Amino acid sequence: MTHPPLRSYGRIKARTLKPRQAALLETLLPKLALPADGPIDLDALFSGAPGGARDVVLEIGFGGGEHLVAQASAHPGTGFIGVEPFLNGVASCLRHIEEAGVQNVRLHQGDARDLLARLPDARLNRVDILFPDPWPKQRHWKRRLIQRDVVWAFARVLKPGGEVRFATDWAHYAGWTMEMFHTEPQLRWLAERPVDWRRPWPGHAPTRYEEKRLGDIAPIFLRFERAKGA
Ligand SMILES: C[S@@+](CC[C@H](N)C(=O)[O-])C[C@H]1O[C@@H](n2cnc3c(N)ncnc32)[C@H](O)[C@@H]1O
Repeated sequence: MTHPPLRSYGRIKARTLKPRQAALLETLLPKLALPADGPIDLDALFSGAPGGARDVVLEIGFGGGEHLVAQASAHPGTGFIGVEPFLNGVASCLRHIEEAGVQNVRLHQGDARDLLARLPDARLNRVDILFPDPWPKQRHWKRRLIQRDVVWAFARVLKPGGEVRFATDWAHYAGWTMEMFHTEPQLRWLAERPVDWRRPWPGHAPTRYEEKRLGDIAPIFLRFERAKGA
Protein backbone atom coordinates (compact mmCIF):
# COMPACT_ATOMS: atom_id res chain seq x y z
CA MET A 1 0.00 0.00 0.00
CA THR A 2 1.50 3.35 -0.96
CA HIS A 3 0.18 6.35 0.88
CA PRO A 4 1.11 9.95 1.68
CA PRO A 5 3.25 10.35 4.79
CA LEU A 6 1.45 10.48 8.13
CA ARG A 7 0.58 14.06 9.12
CA SER A 8 -0.42 15.13 12.58
CA TYR A 9 -3.86 16.72 12.75
CA GLY A 10 -3.98 17.61 16.43
CA ARG A 11 -1.25 18.65 18.80
CA ILE A 12 2.16 18.19 17.20
CA LYS A 13 4.35 18.83 20.20
CA ALA A 14 4.34 15.86 22.56
CA ARG A 15 3.76 16.41 26.25
CA THR A 16 6.65 15.40 28.46
CA LEU A 17 6.06 11.85 29.62
CA LYS A 18 5.34 11.32 33.30
CA PRO A 19 7.96 9.11 34.98
CA ARG A 20 5.51 6.21 35.35
CA GLN A 21 4.59 6.38 31.67
CA ALA A 22 8.23 6.53 30.65
CA ALA A 23 8.91 3.48 32.82
CA LEU A 24 6.00 1.56 31.22
CA LEU A 25 7.39 2.32 27.77
CA GLU A 26 10.63 0.69 28.89
CA THR A 27 9.20 -2.31 30.73
CA LEU A 28 5.66 -3.13 29.53
CA LEU A 29 5.70 -2.03 25.88
CA PRO A 30 8.39 -4.54 24.80
CA LYS A 31 6.13 -7.36 26.09
CA LEU A 32 3.08 -6.13 24.21
CA ALA A 33 4.55 -4.59 21.06
CA LEU A 34 4.04 -6.12 17.63
CA PRO A 35 7.22 -7.13 15.80
CA ALA A 36 8.73 -4.10 14.07
CA ASP A 37 8.37 -5.52 10.56
CA GLY A 38 7.32 -8.53 8.51
CA PRO A 39 4.03 -10.42 8.39
CA ILE A 40 2.11 -10.57 11.69
CA ASP A 41 1.54 -14.09 13.06
CA LEU A 42 -1.63 -13.61 15.15
CA ASP A 43 -1.35 -17.01 16.85
CA ALA A 44 2.15 -16.18 18.07
CA LEU A 45 1.12 -12.65 19.04
CA PHE A 46 -1.70 -13.81 21.32
CA SER A 47 -0.14 -17.08 22.49
CA GLY A 48 -0.14 -15.93 26.15
CA ALA A 49 -3.63 -14.39 26.05
CA PRO A 50 -6.69 -16.13 27.57
CA GLY A 51 -8.54 -16.72 24.28
CA GLY A 52 -5.47 -16.92 22.02
CA ALA A 53 -6.08 -15.46 18.55
CA ARG A 54 -9.46 -17.09 17.89
CA ASP A 55 -11.20 -13.69 17.82
CA VAL A 56 -9.19 -10.55 17.08
CA VAL A 57 -10.23 -6.87 16.95
CA LEU A 58 -8.07 -4.03 15.61
CA GLU A 59 -8.59 -0.48 16.91
CA ILE A 60 -7.05 2.21 14.70
CA GLY A 61 -6.08 5.54 16.28
CA PHE A 62 -6.89 4.60 19.88
CA GLY A 63 -5.90 8.02 21.27
CA GLY A 64 -5.32 7.51 25.02
CA GLY A 65 -6.47 3.88 24.87
CA GLU A 66 -9.53 4.25 27.14
CA HIS A 67 -11.91 2.61 24.65
CA LEU A 68 -9.42 -0.11 23.68
CA VAL A 69 -8.78 -1.17 27.27
CA ALA A 70 -12.48 -0.98 28.23
CA GLN A 71 -13.24 -3.30 25.30
CA ALA A 72 -10.42 -5.65 26.27
CA SER A 73 -11.70 -5.79 29.88
CA ALA A 74 -15.24 -6.49 28.70
CA HIS A 75 -14.10 -9.25 26.29
CA PRO A 76 -11.15 -11.07 27.90
CA GLY A 77 -11.38 -13.99 25.45
CA THR A 78 -10.83 -11.70 22.43
CA GLY A 79 -7.42 -10.40 21.34
CA PHE A 80 -7.20 -6.65 20.79
CA ILE A 81 -4.57 -4.90 18.67
CA GLY A 82 -4.29 -1.13 19.04
CA VAL A 83 -2.38 1.05 16.59
CA GLU A 84 -1.56 4.69 17.28
CA PRO A 85 1.35 6.81 16.03
CA PHE A 86 1.36 9.24 18.95
CA LEU A 87 3.83 8.20 21.68
CA ASN A 88 1.91 9.93 24.48
CA GLY A 89 -1.17 7.94 23.45
CA VAL A 90 0.76 4.67 23.61
CA ALA A 91 2.13 5.62 27.05
CA SER A 92 -1.36 6.50 28.30
CA CYS A 93 -2.72 3.21 26.97
CA LEU A 94 0.02 1.26 28.79
CA ARG A 95 -1.11 2.89 32.04
CA HIS A 96 -4.70 1.80 31.39
CA ILE A 97 -3.56 -1.72 30.51
CA GLU A 98 -1.58 -1.98 33.74
CA GLU A 99 -4.39 -0.58 35.88
CA ALA A 100 -7.01 -2.86 34.32
CA GLY A 101 -4.70 -5.88 34.45
CA VAL A 102 -5.80 -7.04 30.98
CA GLN A 103 -3.77 -9.75 29.21
CA ASN A 104 -5.34 -9.52 25.77
CA VAL A 105 -4.03 -6.22 24.32
CA ARG A 106 -1.11 -5.83 21.92
CA LEU A 107 0.11 -2.46 20.69
CA HIS A 108 1.80 -0.95 17.69
CA GLN A 109 3.15 2.58 17.67
CA GLY A 110 2.89 3.57 14.04
CA ASP A 111 0.70 4.01 11.00
CA ALA A 112 -2.34 1.74 10.60
CA ARG A 113 -1.87 1.71 6.84
CA ASP A 114 1.51 -0.01 7.18
CA LEU A 115 0.17 -2.43 9.77
CA LEU A 116 -2.81 -3.44 7.62
CA ALA A 117 -0.44 -4.56 4.87
CA ARG A 118 1.28 -6.92 7.37
CA LEU A 119 -1.90 -8.65 8.60
CA PRO A 120 -3.03 -12.02 7.23
CA ASP A 121 -6.10 -12.48 5.04
CA ALA A 122 -9.53 -13.07 6.60
CA ARG A 123 -8.49 -13.25 10.27
CA LEU A 124 -9.94 -10.16 12.02
CA ASN A 125 -13.39 -10.12 13.56
CA ARG A 126 -13.61 -6.35 13.66
CA VAL A 127 -11.86 -3.07 12.87
CA ASP A 128 -12.81 -0.05 15.02
CA ILE A 129 -12.12 3.49 13.76
CA LEU A 130 -13.53 5.95 16.24
CA PHE A 131 -13.44 9.65 15.42
CA PRO A 132 -10.46 9.63 13.05
CA ASP A 133 -8.75 12.94 12.33
CA PRO A 134 -11.37 14.79 10.23
CA TRP A 135 -9.12 16.89 7.95
CA PRO A 136 -12.10 19.10 6.99
CA LYS A 137 -10.33 21.32 4.43
CA GLN A 138 -10.62 20.03 0.88
CA ARG A 139 -6.89 20.29 0.22
CA HIS A 140 -6.34 17.89 3.15
CA TRP A 141 -8.91 15.23 2.27
CA LYS A 142 -6.13 13.05 0.85
CA ARG A 143 -4.70 12.83 4.38
CA ARG A 144 -7.82 11.13 5.74
CA LEU A 145 -7.34 7.57 6.91
CA ILE A 146 -10.34 6.32 4.96
CA GLN A 147 -9.26 5.97 1.33
CA ARG A 148 -10.09 3.38 -1.28
CA ASP A 149 -6.98 1.26 -0.73
CA VAL A 150 -7.52 1.23 3.05
CA VAL A 151 -11.13 0.10 2.60
CA TRP A 152 -9.92 -2.69 0.30
CA ALA A 153 -7.41 -3.68 2.96
CA PHE A 154 -10.25 -3.92 5.52
CA ALA A 155 -12.11 -6.29 3.18
CA ARG A 156 -8.98 -8.42 2.88
CA VAL A 157 -8.14 -8.72 6.59
CA LEU A 158 -11.71 -9.26 7.87
CA LYS A 159 -13.22 -12.70 8.28
CA PRO A 160 -16.42 -13.34 6.31
CA GLY A 161 -19.11 -11.76 8.53
CA GLY A 162 -16.50 -9.52 10.21
CA GLU A 163 -17.25 -5.86 10.73
CA VAL A 164 -15.82 -2.36 10.42
CA ARG A 165 -17.16 0.16 12.94
CA PHE A 166 -16.62 3.81 12.05
CA ALA A 167 -17.75 6.90 13.97
CA THR A 168 -17.37 10.58 13.17
CA ASP A 169 -18.99 13.88 14.06
CA TRP A 170 -18.02 15.57 10.78
CA ALA A 171 -20.71 15.53 8.10
CA HIS A 172 -18.34 15.54 5.14
CA TYR A 173 -16.23 12.70 6.51
CA ALA A 174 -19.39 10.63 7.02
CA GLY A 175 -20.41 11.06 3.38
CA TRP A 176 -16.83 10.53 2.22
CA THR A 177 -16.65 7.25 4.14
CA MET A 178 -19.92 6.01 2.65
CA GLU A 179 -18.54 6.74 -0.83
CA MET A 180 -15.25 4.96 -0.16
CA PHE A 181 -16.94 1.86 1.25
CA HIS A 182 -19.29 1.85 -1.72
CA THR A 183 -16.28 1.08 -3.95
CA GLU A 184 -15.71 -2.25 -2.14
CA PRO A 185 -18.39 -4.80 -3.03
CA GLN A 186 -17.28 -7.14 -0.23
CA LEU A 187 -18.38 -4.64 2.45
CA ARG A 188 -22.08 -3.98 3.02
CA TRP A 189 -23.45 -1.09 5.08
CA LEU A 190 -25.47 -2.51 7.97
CA ALA A 191 -28.21 0.10 8.27
CA GLU A 192 -31.87 -0.20 7.54
CA ARG A 193 -33.28 2.85 9.33
CA PRO A 194 -31.81 6.23 10.38
CA VAL A 195 -31.72 5.09 13.99
CA ASP A 196 -29.13 2.49 12.95
CA TRP A 197 -26.55 5.19 12.24
CA ARG A 198 -27.75 7.86 14.66
CA ARG A 199 -27.38 5.63 17.70
CA PRO A 200 -24.16 3.93 18.73
CA TRP A 201 -23.91 0.16 18.60
CA PRO A 202 -24.70 -1.72 21.82
CA GLY A 203 -21.95 -1.49 24.43
CA HIS A 204 -20.44 1.72 23.05
CA ALA A 205 -19.05 4.15 25.64
CA PRO A 206 -18.24 7.72 24.41
CA THR A 207 -14.56 8.20 23.60
CA ARG A 208 -12.47 11.09 24.85
CA TYR A 209 -12.55 12.83 21.45
CA GLU A 210 -16.29 12.19 21.05
CA GLU A 211 -16.98 13.98 24.33
CA LYS A 212 -15.24 17.12 23.06
CA ARG A 213 -17.99 17.62 20.43
CA LEU A 214 -15.65 19.37 18.00
CA GLY A 215 -17.43 18.30 14.83
CA ASP A 216 -20.25 19.90 12.87
CA ILE A 217 -22.91 17.20 13.47
CA ALA A 218 -24.00 14.84 16.23
CA PRO A 219 -21.89 11.66 16.07
CA ILE A 220 -22.87 9.08 13.52
CA PHE A 221 -22.05 5.39 13.73
CA LEU A 222 -21.51 3.31 10.59
CA ARG A 223 -21.15 -0.48 10.53
CA PHE A 224 -20.02 -2.40 7.44
CA GLU A 225 -20.09 -6.19 7.20
CA ARG A 226 -17.67 -8.31 5.17
CA ALA A 227 -19.67 -10.59 2.85
CA LYS A 228 -20.30 -13.93 4.54
CA GLY A 229 -20.16 -16.10 1.45
CA ALA A 230 -16.75 -15.07 0.12
C1 LIG B 1 -9.22 12.56 16.65
S1 LIG B 1 -8.23 11.39 17.42
C2 LIG B 1 -9.41 10.21 18.12
C3 LIG B 1 -8.81 9.36 19.20
C4 LIG B 1 -9.77 8.32 19.82
N1 LIG B 1 -10.17 7.33 18.85
C5 LIG B 1 -10.98 9.00 20.42
O1 LIG B 1 -12.08 8.88 19.84
O2 LIG B 1 -10.84 9.63 21.49
C6 LIG B 1 -7.58 10.46 16.03
C7 LIG B 1 -6.43 9.56 16.39
O3 LIG B 1 -6.01 8.82 15.25
C8 LIG B 1 -4.59 8.75 15.26
N2 LIG B 1 -4.14 8.50 13.87
C9 LIG B 1 -4.04 9.41 12.88
N3 LIG B 1 -3.58 8.84 11.76
C10 LIG B 1 -3.40 7.51 12.04
C11 LIG B 1 -2.93 6.41 11.29
N4 LIG B 1 -2.58 6.52 10.00
N5 LIG B 1 -2.85 5.21 11.91
C12 LIG B 1 -3.21 5.07 13.21
N6 LIG B 1 -3.69 6.09 13.96
C13 LIG B 1 -3.78 7.30 13.39
C14 LIG B 1 -4.16 10.09 15.84
O4 LIG B 1 -2.84 10.08 16.36
C15 LIG B 1 -5.21 10.30 16.92
O5 LIG B 1 -4.83 9.75 18.16
